[in-house]
Amino acid sequence: MSEEAGVSRHKRRTVLKAGGAAVAGAVAQPVFAATAAPAQAEAAGGVPITLRVNGKPHALTVEARVTLLDALRERLDLTGAKKGCDRGECGACTVHVDGRRVKSCLTLAVMQEGREITTVEGLARDGRLHPVQEAFIRHDAFQCGACTSGQVMSAVAVIDEGHAGSVDEIREWMSGNLCRCAVYPNIVAAVRDAAKEKRP
Ligand code: FES
Ligand code: FES
Repeated sequence: MSEEAGVSRHKRRTVLKAGGAAVAGAVAQPVFAATAAPAQAEAAGGVPITLRVNGKPHALTVEARVTLLDALRERLDLTGAKKGCDRGECGACTVHVDGRRVKSCLTLAVMQEGREITTVEGLARDGRLHPVQEAFIRHDAFQCGACTSGQVMSAVAVIDEGHAGSVDEIREWMSGNLCRCAVYPNIVAAVRDAAKEKRP
């Protein structure tokens, strides 16, 4: 091999190595960014807000881009709302805002100031589960449970909205909540059952 060829191969290797490191960095960065977001928000000054969750006010400082889901899970330790897809497709992160269901991964925490937010942790009252939660247990409407809190929050809203009159109606109005274990028949049965009960 000529010296020139050797040098150019060395350069190519160096470039490839550097490129590999850059790609690895690019892949690793979002993971790091996700976990470091609260610290970065404070370092950057952040936005002071008060979120009212399950009847209690919580003062916190968040970067303006922080989603409601991340604020709940990472800042307030309310991990009932799950992060499935983080892009509005699975419904695992469903919470109620002013009584309406919202996918908390699709809305910013700073937009929810002054609103009444309810998570699955806030459904039980006086030590009693919500009738929907009890119906899910009765009907074995979960397997891995990853989707369950979102399903329960949607089911409560579907019943309150008056959209639980038939199997087809429940299927239609619960269609924004996916269950990878496919426990759908049990979920529908639980919603039908809970719809017959009035909360005391
Ligand atoms: S995590 Fe929000 S819809 Fe999937
Ligand atoms: S119970 Fe596992 S995803 Fe629904």
